[in-house]
Amino acid sequence: MSGPNTSYDPVEVEALKPEEIERALADALAAVAAATDLDALREAKAAHTGPSSPLALANREIGALPPQARAEAGRRVGQARGELGRALAVRQTELEAERDERVLVEEAVDVTLPYDRVPAGARHPITTLSERIEDVFVAMGYEVAEGPEVEAEWFNFDALNIGPDHPARAESDTFYVAGAEEGTASGAVLRTHTSPVQIRSMLEHREPPIYVICPGRVYRTDEVDATHSPVFHQVECLAVDEGLTMADLKGTLDHMVRSLFGGEGMRTRLRPDYFPFTEPSAEMDMVCYVCRGESVGNPDRPCRTCSSEGWIELGGCGVVNPRVLLACGIDPERYSGFAFGFGIERMLMFRNNVQDMRDMIEADVRFTRPFGTEV
Ligand code: DAH
Repeated sequence: MSGPNTSYDPVEVEALKPEEIERALADALAAVAAATDLDALREAKAAHTGPSSPLALANREIGALPPQARAEAGRRVGQARGELGRALAVRQTELEAERDERVLVEEAVDVTLPYDRVPAGARHPITTLSERIEDVFVAMGYEVAEGPEVEAEWFNFDALNIGPDHPARAESDTFYVAGAEEGTASGAVLRTHTSPVQIRSMLEHREPPIYVICPGRVYRTDEVDATHSPVFHQVECLAVDEGLTMADLKGTLDHMVRSLFGGEGMRTRLRPDYFPFTEPSAEMDMVCYVCRGESVGNPDRPCRTCSSEGWIELGGCGVVNPRVLLACGIDPERYSGFAFGFGIERMLMFRNNVQDMRDMIEADVRFTRPFGTEV
């Protein structure tokens, strides 16, 4: 045998019969019309134009036809594929437009809706007040000093000239953490005041001038009630230099209350008192920042802040006892100093009219937030 078998009549090829092409096209157009989204359209396209689709198979059969039959079959298949191609393109455009419209609706952002606020907390007013006090002193050239809350008894008491029998050492006031061990002179306590930071500062600095301000937490064995807490805060001030006197202490205190409470007439007064670590010692009061003393003897203008006394008690102060300087290796013949210490909770109570100590301990945001987000 040689040459192609021309006696074969390929017009009878099943896939190329006009009714088969029409059916394939009708199926394909129906699938295109039925596609309701772009994914379905992609599937319909693959099924009806892909390599194993009826129209692609038919197209492949054309080559097997005798030349005289090819043009007719080719035109028929070509028309069908062309029509399908156009239908696909039209449907594609329609579905894309639908999708875009849907996205615009579904993903629209209503900028007028109220947003989900993350509730902001607030810094604790004890922290912000401590920092304000620090700032007043840093502005005068003081350093901020810190010490440990678990403190050696020696720093908390002995070095401050608080003798072994002083009532402040009683277990009813002091949290003892560890007793003095064999061969050691000092047990450990939770510091009962910030005054041991005075000792640490002097030992660290060695040589005056020393100007430090030390805010911090202190502990005493008190039950929690409206005016007491076993944990509270104090701020301690120590200045040691040549020629310092009680007058420098008074000027510093006056400057502090003017800076913290503002306005004309803010000043302090000193009343004699006793502390083992200062000599002379005093209790310091500040003028009532609300009535400025005008409520005194004036029943028509009572003042709740100072109970019409005109003065508010702040804390203790004095000239550093030479024995304390000596304990820290500082020559009391050459140097002198002043010191003071007061409670920060107490100041916050009269400054911001906080009635109950427990509010400060619990630190509920409903308590802290009204103080604002002061930094
Ligand atoms: N440490 C004293 C207390 O806790 C307060 C105090 C008094 C501090 C006199 C001082 C001072 O620095 O000079 O009650």
